[in-house]
Amino acid sequence: MSPVISVKNSTQSIQGKLYWDEILAESCRGAPLDAWRSYMQQIYRRLLRDWLPGATSGFGLKTDLFEEAVSPHYLLSDLGQGSVGIDCSPAIVQAACRRLQVNNPQHLLIVGELRQLPLKAGAIKRVLAGSSLDHFPNKSDIAKSLLELARVLAPGGTLVITFDNPHNPVVWLRNLLPFVWLNRLGLVPYYVGKTYTRTEARKQLKAVGLTVTDETAVAHAPRAPAIWLVMLVERLGWPSLQSLIARFLDSSERLERWPTRYRTGYYIALRAQKGRRGDPPCDTSV
Ligand SMILES: C[S@@+](CC[C@H](N)C(=O)[O-])C[C@H]1O[C@@H](n2cnc3c(N)ncnc32)[C@H](O)[C@@H]1O
Repeated sequence: MSPVISVKNSTQSIQGKLYWDEILAESCRGAPLDAWRSYMQQIYRRLLRDWLPGATSGFGLKTDLFEEAVSPHYLLSDLGQGSVGIDCSPAIVQAACRRLQVNNPQHLLIVGELRQLPLKAGAIKRVLAGSSLDHFPNKSDIAKSLLELARVLAPGGTLVITFDNPHNPVVWLRNLLPFVWLNRLGLVPYYVGKTYTRTEARKQLKAVGLTVTDETAVAHAPRAPAIWLVMLVERLGWPSLQSLIARFLDSSERLERWPTRYRTGYYIALRAQKGRRGDPPCDTSV
């Protein structure tokens, strides 16, 4: 049985899809950032391994298809056979289709909007939302998307979600400065919007009826310098230097074990679960 309601209707209200089409074109013209994308893939793989162990039955959902479109280091297949990928950009969905059709034709990729998911209620067993909700100018849109994710989750289903971490001073400063400046300086490649503090994230997840079971901070490598370094090393084309950078990136994740992890991690990561039928109702007063 398909988890999709109607792909046609879902594309009608999309705003900003052309923006993300252009970002895809820019990314394809730019450096592959292989070591960086592999590092991010490993981070999400670890989260899935620890927080969704042995998850195979039912449909998985990935809430954007950027990695699948631009890199071989994607994650949709880690959510299981038949998993669904959604993205508001038709060009990103097409590019992801091309890559996944070659490697794994079992996925369902759809153009759709996070604030109005074209999926049936309770159709999805597990969701990976890797920084997909970090691109809205208003917090109310993040809340709307969370409500949609909670709606499509099956009872007992799990959400693994990351948000830009405003407790990291670099992210905090970035969010204070005008996006146009940061973009012109090459510090931020695409629009980033509002984000939640840890307390807000927990409150909002609870408000949509989910129970937060785990929380951490991930991606501790200093993002902009690390990406520049990866670009430089790719240009030089020295494989030994490339593997050295890859090792440095991976080793930076040791900072997750430190008490300072919410100061150094670029993202806060949360695992939240939807109660099974018959569980006591959640408090939705926040
Ligand atoms: C540039 S990526 C960043 C997320 C990526 N997973 C990461 O970790 O860097 C943002 C992705 O979210 C998609 N996107 C942005 N707003 C969206 C929305 N409202 N609904 C669906 N997809 C959206 C964009 O098309 C793009 O593929």
